[in-house]
Amino acid sequence: MCGIVGYVGSKQALEVVVDGLRRLEYRGYDSAGVAVLDGTGPGAALQVERKAGKLANLEKVLVERELRGTLGIGHTRWATHGPPTDANAHPHLDCAGAVAVVHNGTIENYEELVAGLEARGHERRSDTDTEVVSHLLEERYATGPTAGDLAASLRSVCRDLQGSFVLVVAHRDEPDLVVAARRNLPLVIGLGDGENFVGSDVTAFIAHTREARAVEQDQVVEVRRDGVVVTDLDGLVVEGSSYHVDWDTDAAEKGGYDFFMLKEIDEQPGAVRDTLGGRLTPEGLLHLDELSMSDEDVRGIEQVFIVACGSAYHSGLVGKYAIERWCRLPVQVEMASEFRYRDPVLGRTTLVIAVSQSGETADTLEAVRHARAQKAWVLAVTNTVGSTISRESDAALYTRGGPEVAVASTKAVMTQITAMYLVGLYLAQLRGTRDPDEVRAHLRDLQEIPELIAELLTRMDAVRELAHELKDEQRVLFLGRHVGYPLALEGALKLKELAYVSAEGFPAGEIKHGPIALVEQGTPVVVIAPRHALQAKLLNNVQEVRARGARTIVLATDGDESAAAYAEHVVRLPDTKSLLTPLLTLVPLQVLSAEIARARGLDVDQPRNLAKSVTVE
Ligand code: M6R
Repeated sequence: MCGIVGYVGSKQALEVVVDGLRRLEYRGYDSAGVAVLDGTGPGAALQVERKAGKLANLEKVLVERELRGTLGIGHTRWATHGPPTDANAHPHLDCAGAVAVVHNGTIENYEELVAGLEARGHERRSDTDTEVVSHLLEERYATGPTAGDLAASLRSVCRDLQGSFVLVVAHRDEPDLVVAARRNLPLVIGLGDGENFVGSDVTAFIAHTREARAVEQDQVVEVRRDGVVVTDLDGLVVEGSSYHVDWDTDAAEKGGYDFFMLKEIDEQPGAVRDTLGGRLTPEGLLHLDELSMSDEDVRGIEQVFIVACGSAYHSGLVGKYAIERWCRLPVQVEMASEFRYRDPVLGRTTLVIAVSQSGETADTLEAVRHARAQKAWVLAVTNTVGSTISRESDAALYTRGGPEVAVASTKAVMTQITAMYLVGLYLAQLRGTRDPDEVRAHLRDLQEIPELIAELLTRMDAVRELAHELKDEQRVLFLGRHVGYPLALEGALKLKELAYVSAEGFPAGEIKHGPIALVEQGTPVVVIAPRHALQAKLLNNVQEVRARGARTIVLATDGDESAAAYAEHVVRLPDTKSLLTPLLTLVPLQVLSAEIARARGLDVDQPRNLAKSVTVE
């Protein structure tokens, strides 16, 4: 949560920083702000502008007030401490206006620090926890052993902070230096030629350089025009290696679409292809070297936990059906926020799979830490190379979905589900619970999916029309059985988060135990009913809600007339094996929610109150 960028080079920093913020805005959009240092010699001034609301509000102000200078920092906020006002927007300054700080995270001991600062005469101007850092830096830079050394001052301040933070700092007396620090939250360095960057992720600087280096826990970075130095909190220099970001800037642009989400939905055939790519042997079986477990350890697994949040949790639920079916292993899927507090029974023969697009979700990260402390083997399934979850797990399987900018997850979920199938088949292959021919056959079915998604995408006009019909509905129910159940949850989550419609997903067999009371004349009920062994039972449930006045919208396989008989609307899906149907049913559910949101005049990419990467517990 919160997007952060820092730049020092020879270009106008404002342009670089605002461009970075535009790409990071998915991380939070309660306010935005920048600080630019004018001039490169002594006597430079810090020019600050910040505005509540989306980045566009700040940009309007910046039209009037062009901030010139070649060093700058910027922030886009998801509010934690204090409402989204101009005063609470970052950067936050010290009393003298000499130091500017932007911050992602929460400083848990800020009240105690505020009390000390006020007692020493500092005046607090915001409700944020962040502001304490500016005042502490003011003190440490002015006197004592760290006087006149911004990096040493920041190291000293970090030692006094509790909580999670990425801090990026500029000082008016340091015209060639941006310093940054990290604890628990992501920070990446962008390495350029005569210019260097820091950002919450590589999208912050991808337009300028593809060479990146991840900052590790409790490290401080000194970013200058001619180079970057990373130290630990004791000031010892830490060597590290850089990596090349291999997707191009187009991947992080809208490319002619009105919203990123619509583009990302359309990118799904390629995304699934990339997830599968290079992971098959010439014999048509799987090699997932990334798992980095010995064959013996794989055979020794006795139970699997899948931990995740939100849509990633739904991907995990699909994974449960696949892994249990193919591997005959017990699988529990847990919301990461509950997992560690429940004190689950884990051990060396437990495989914990942490699913996370960002690889930074705080609850999932804590679940990973808890699992590792209990000696479980932890596999991260993530889209983000070098993310904290991938680095703190025993192994990482990258989903290769490419950058996902819209807050609502689409291609990330699609590729997570694909990765779940790969894990299931790989475990089955190594443990011998499915014979190689069957594994090969499932992999062939999976390889057909990108084509089927592409074809399905050409049929979405009917779903768009349906969205217009449903745009004023206040409540929508989603029903599914077996792997259709997680999809019912996902369809409902998408509609809630994008269109602010009260939507709920249920296992269809469960509705008569309570939820059917919600059904009244005209209530839209979306039924996920691709051809499946439980089809007949599902259709009974459809009849039950219909008999009570529901308006049924049924997602049914091409040529399946049994489902159509009970539907006001039928959305047709190409045929595939029933266990793989989530990869197809996802598409109309995504389009339906995006188009209802659009028809309601809402911002499809940036729904209210949300941020893409939830880095607070
Ligand atoms: O980055 P992660 O996959 O860990 O994020 C998990 C959830 O926050 C995320 O899936 C969220 O539910 C999305 N907004 C759903 O569209």
